[in-house]
Amino acid sequence: MEEKNAELLESVQRLLREALSEESARPVLPSLPHSTVRDQLDLTLTPEGKSLDQVIDELITLAAGTPRTNSRHFFNQLFGGRENAAVAGEVLSAILNNSMYTYKAAGPQILLERALLRHMAGLVGMPRAEGSFQAGGSLSNLLGLLLARNRAFPGWREEGPGGQRPVMYTSSESHYSVVKAAGILGIGRENVRRIAVDERGRMSAEELERQIEADLHEDPVSGERDRRHYGARRLRPPGRTRADHRPARTMAARRRSLRRLGRPLSAAASPSEGNRAS
Ligand SMILES: Cc1ncc(COP(=O)(O)O)c(C=O)c1O
Repeated sequence: MEEKNAELLESVQRLLREALSEESARPVLPSLPHSTVRDQLDLTLTPEGKSLDQVIDELITLAAGTPRTNSRHFFNQLFGGRENAAVAGEVLSAILNNSMYTYKAAGPQILLERALLRHMAGLVGMPRAEGSFQAGGSLSNLLGLLLARNRAFPGWREEGPGGQRPVMYTSSESHYSVVKAAGILGIGRENVRRIAVDERGRMSAEELERQIEADLHEDPVSGERDRRHYGARRLRPPGRTRADHRPARTMAARRRSLRRLGRPLSAAASPSEGNRAS
């Protein structure tokens, strides 16, 4: 055990030293064609496997061909730079190698996870929220849209859509994973409305309102299912649209709230690069 640990430490140190000294020497790596990188790497997987030394050599080559994200000259959306404390935590979690399913399996790491989630939820005004870390943007969008779907259609989770036709609105600049999520969630890719943006990437409130009005007048759903799930308030007889059924006061209130929605939207700052498709 001791010997194996010493070998691990030595190998990881060699790897990190090489990677960091490469990075210091060349903080920005010119873009390399993938054929060049592929020729330098041995990506074959054999039943015999490789020695740890061989694997470390391969990893050093891999690091040498990987875009460098830690200088101020790395311009991409979402992130940049290295946080040493975060690296230490990441390395430790790989060494400890726990699974995060229960306190029994991961001990204080569960408490840490909860504290972080609570902190992050607090940043967006939800100090008592629960949550989970996602592997990336697509999964985050999927989960967010799932929550939105369940909130808008409380019966869906248990009984499915039941003939309802939801419509989703997103900016024409939003990531393709939004439309993909609509397909996965049973909302339907064709029920996603991509709303035009202005020259600064801001969604047009007028276009959004126009599209919502058009959808409200087109909804072909009969009321039977609605009554069971959501009560008579949302019931409308076959052949009548949701807009026909909605009391005038509600429609007027809706228009007012749409107009209110329009103001902050048109005053909002341009979206960050992170909101664009990569
Ligand atoms: C806003 C947004 N959503 C989703 C994604 C997709 O992320 P991932 O490739 O991690 O699924 C990206 C990627 O850049 C993004 O910027």
